[in-house]
Amino acid sequence: MNNSNSIGVFDSGLGGLSIARRIREILPNENLLYVADSAHGPYGDKSAAFITQRSSAIIDFLLEQKAKTIVVACNTATVSSIQELRAKYRVPIIGVEPGIKPAVFKTNTRIIGVLATTQTLKSTSFNELSSNFSDKVKIEVQACPGLMEQVEALDLAGHKTEALVKKYVGSLLERGVDNIVLGCTHYIFLAPLIRKIAGPAIEIINTDFAVAKETARRLTVANLLSSNYALGQEQFYSSGDQPTATKQFSLLWGEPVSVSQF
Ligand code: DGL
Repeated sequence: MNNSNSIGVFDSGLGGLSIARRIREILPNENLLYVADSAHGPYGDKSAAFITQRSSAIIDFLLEQKAKTIVVACNTATVSSIQELRAKYRVPIIGVEPGIKPAVFKTNTRIIGVLATTQTLKSTSFNELSSNFSDKVKIEVQACPGLMEQVEALDLAGHKTEALVKKYVGSLLERGVDNIVLGCTHYIFLAPLIRKIAGPAIEIINTDFAVAKETARRLTVANLLSSNYALGQEQFYSSGDQPTATKQFSLLWGEPVSVSQF
């Protein structure tokens, strides 16, 4: 294993770019590979077996490109598949889960809200995580069908997206939450809209920095941090239509980038 090999990051689509950009911020010398499985998303309405099979295909590809570690930048894939993936592959695999723990520390009403995909909310792993805190807080969950697709369509603030966010966030507010956990990496790109609708008093929690920091910690422990002085490069891949993917990635990454077919 070579330290200048890349960190491999993937998601069902663009959501994981929210985590990749944090990794880029705190690890500027690392090379990054990113796969968006946009042709097979949303994962949120798929079975765990399907998600595990897609995740394995993507990790096989990332390892062929010599990834030194894998970041599953998708809550849905993490809660559905990470145990099987860790049993199957020898590289460090870092996942992302809804930030219930930080919300528990911050809540005053003792009622916290979680926005996530249907598949995340029904998973054993999410329900075990929630039950660890059930003596301290009430956890109100809200599945958000259609929201991931709005991010994929780059509609981060249009009428349809706003109507969906109003419906989902409004439902949590009616249940008395004072914290909203963004339990899907796509929703991080909707944080400004969620803030606008929830108002300034509601704490919005996401774990993008925590995942980036955990990636740095795991690379340090495994002695795999890049020792390059040069800035790292990014290589982007998508299973979706290429011209669309190039537009999507360039907008969300914040600069023109090229995207290869996965
Ligand atoms: N971005 C993903 C997550 O964090 C999944 C969205 C989807 O594919 O439904 O859960």
